[in-house]
Amino acid sequence: MVLGCLHQLMVKMTRKNKILLTRKLHDFALKRLRKKYAIEVHSGKIPMPKNKLIDKIRDKDGLICFPYDVIDKQVIDSAKKLRTICTYSVGYDHIDIKYAKRKKIRIGYTPKVLTEATADLAFTLILDLLRRVTEGDRIIRKGGWKEIYGVYDYVGNDLAGKTLGILGLGRIGKAVSKRANAFGVKIIYHNRKRLARKIEISTHSKYESLNGLLRKSDVVSIHVPYTKQTHQLVDMNFLKKMKNTSFLVNTARGNIIKEKDLVSALRKKIIAGAALDVFENEPIGKNHPFTKMQNVVLAPHVGSSTIETRKKMTELTVKNLELALSDKKPIYTV
Ligand code: DGY
Repeated sequence: MVLGCLHQLMVKMTRKNKILLTRKLHDFALKRLRKKYAIEVHSGKIPMPKNKLIDKIRDKDGLICFPYDVIDKQVIDSAKKLRTICTYSVGYDHIDIKYAKRKKIRIGYTPKVLTEATADLAFTLILDLLRRVTEGDRIIRKGGWKEIYGVYDYVGNDLAGKTLGILGLGRIGKAVSKRANAFGVKIIYHNRKRLARKIEISTHSKYESLNGLLRKSDVVSIHVPYTKQTHQLVDMNFLKKMKNTSFLVNTARGNIIKEKDLVSALRKKIIAGAALDVFENEPIGKNHPFTKMQNVVLAPHVGSSTIETRKKMTELTVKNLELALSDKKPIYTV
């Protein structure tokens, strides 16, 4: 009897925690995870089909997932042993956080390490829109560049002296403001709550109501998280408040914009253009209305996609998981 209990205890002590990864991480991370855990890496269709996810997660202690994996009640309920969900993203809107917490599941995510990369992308898109870089690229590739250097040819807009409206002056918004300051841009922002004076001073930004921001901005850049409150925040009503010479940039989440309304606003020239890294349904195909518009710049959800940042995100995701499975708080938790 005693021996039996001892055996069971030893089995428990030597049993490796089981981890499910809904997609491959860097090799160095897989090697490290394999040493400690029994890992299973999904390698088929992306995102992992829900029925497969539900099946595979049943006996797992930990989950590493990505922003397109929907981790809802049904998935959480099927995971009888799950102790942690670590997402490879700063956004965690794809996880039912409240429910996971009720089930005492620790959440890990990857803020901070991707701030600069995402701000770089937002700024790249702003410059691209104003100077029509990818538009010119498309024209050349189609053999459409016929004459050189005309006074009206491919003219864009100056950035210096323009007003940038940052919707959501959080970590990424502030990093965008740093770049905008260097380019001689006037910065206004809107948050649910006005920030402390010293933050406004250090970012050289001025608080505006949402309507004020939309009315005054030459470029509106979105940096709010996706929540119930920000769901389709950018609709026709929002767009009509912007200047018809202004541009919209979204590197946050696709569902913050009601795409149908944006398509129609761009067609009717209610705003001048848009640059988008995120969409309602990703990936978008070549027949999406945005692909037919010259005043739209498109990116395939690559805000954090640099070699350096993606490695940092991997390291952080693994660390978050290791901590959670040793019953400690992940480095970044929700
Ligand atoms: C995130 O981490 O949430 C971003 O969307 C990745 O680019």
